[in-house]
Amino acid sequence: MSAETFYVTTPIYYVNDAPHIGHAYTTVAGDVLTRWHRQRGEQVWFLTGTDEHGEKVLNTATANNSTPQAWCDNLVEQKWKPVWKALNIANDDFIRTTEPRHMERVQRFMQQLKDAGFIYAGKFEGPYCVGCEEFKLPGDLEDGNCKVHGKPCAMLSEDNWFFKLSEFVPALLEHYKKNPEACQPESARNEVVAFLESGVRDLSISRSSFDWGIPVPWDTEQVIYVWFDALLNYATAVGLGDEADSAGGKKFAATWPADVHLVGKDILRFHAVIWPAMLMAAGLPVPGKVFAHGWLLVGGEKMSKSKLTGIAPETITDHFGVDAFRYYFLRAIPFGSDGSFSWEDMGARYTSELANDFGNLASRIIAMIEKYCDGAIPAVARDEELATLLATSVERADVAMCALDFQGGIGAIMDFCKRVNGYVTEKEPWAMAKDPANQIELEKVLYNTAEAVRALAVLLHPVMPTTTQILWESLGADETLGDIKGQKIADVANWGQLPTGSRVTKGAVLFPRLEEKPA
Ligand code: MSP
Repeated sequence: MSAETFYVTTPIYYVNDAPHIGHAYTTVAGDVLTRWHRQRGEQVWFLTGTDEHGEKVLNTATANNSTPQAWCDNLVEQKWKPVWKALNIANDDFIRTTEPRHMERVQRFMQQLKDAGFIYAGKFEGPYCVGCEEFKLPGDLEDGNCKVHGKPCAMLSEDNWFFKLSEFVPALLEHYKKNPEACQPESARNEVVAFLESGVRDLSISRSSFDWGIPVPWDTEQVIYVWFDALLNYATAVGLGDEADSAGGKKFAATWPADVHLVGKDILRFHAVIWPAMLMAAGLPVPGKVFAHGWLLVGGEKMSKSKLTGIAPETITDHFGVDAFRYYFLRAIPFGSDGSFSWEDMGARYTSELANDFGNLASRIIAMIEKYCDGAIPAVARDEELATLLATSVERADVAMCALDFQGGIGAIMDFCKRVNGYVTEKEPWAMAKDPANQIELEKVLYNTAEAVRALAVLLHPVMPTTTQILWESLGADETLGDIKGQKIADVANWGQLPTGSRVTKGAVLFPRLEEKPA
């Protein structure tokens, strides 16, 4: 773990097209993790960005009669950044691999590895999949086609520069043995260990047949292999190799190593084999954790633009809203497993968990406080069962969220929400209200419910920032307890925070009834 900052990254995405919900899945997970840790009171740095070099992007730009730089500039500004903004992604930085800050640091790093004797000249002969941007082994192919893309590979024969990757196999195996948390989930770690044990070749880290990339510093006829360039983004973005007393050097000291690299399982080996070996070669600490999540599937296959199965996030957010989008994928699919997206399943969860369990509870408590207490939070009360359950739920949620078990974390919060609904149903405050003699009892029930809803707003804030903010304001809590973002996970279960007499107001419906599914 880095000394001062909890550093979270997403992969940097290829800009051969606009983002689909597979990309958004990773980025939202990173955002929720970031926001959760911020509410734990930690200093967090969250990085995302775009991977702009290599043949894949070059070919797409050329096919669209564009220069690669103009193509990337346009897509990054018109598609990628706006989609993250629309999804409420709170990244601290956005790195593009065509930026000078990245290119200069990559060149310097590569020169350093060459000077240290880890890079040599060689010849690469073999299959290469442009879709994966990967040198393939015969075992990676099926009938000569890339198994991931189902397309033929190019046969390369190039004089390239090689990185002595194979030298790092013993150190990597030792690393994963000593630090099992460094590659998660366990199935991913097993895969990486098996791969390392099966024998790893040295890696070609340059290409000579096209020029869209960062020039090899000592051989400008070649460009740096796109993955060698891209992996370095995590470190270049925070000042890799800068003088210790410069701004970059200080940032690097405070941030590196990264605590969590979130990746899809398709790019696990790059992150858990090549990347730590590059860092070891430079004498730098390796990342705390690489977490490989599963794929969103369409028709049983990985959703992808190249197979024309990519769904744009707007298709879903236009119908369900941004917060439901952020909630659904993390709630429905265990992080680490594949999951199929189904409109019907999302509709069902929206209605039962968000609109009924959470949204209705929120609107009912505000309406009842307005009706039975003139809109003022009643005297502080404490239901022992609810207060205790809240404390254990927060603990469960925190352990799960920190372990990137989003399903378990959100599940713990939503189980508490269900119990609060049960409490209201059992107490029947509307029946109590019929007899003025019950006013004190009634107010206790309303206070307990409001307090539970306060806690739910705070706990769900990292997942659904917009709706919980609306709820926070309708509880009057922004004026009495301060900004919702500033509410700490460690304090959520301190019962009795909503101050007596503060005003509640009816806010917008949090999860409106869904329109018919669009045709
Ligand atoms: N540019 C490389 C990554 C370099 S990181 C140093 C790359 N880019 S990508 O655009 O193809 O994005 C890959 C990532 O997008 C996956 O690892 C995953 O995080 C996400 N996903 C893309 N399709 C996905 C699904 N169908 N399902 C889940 N996540 C998916 O690889």
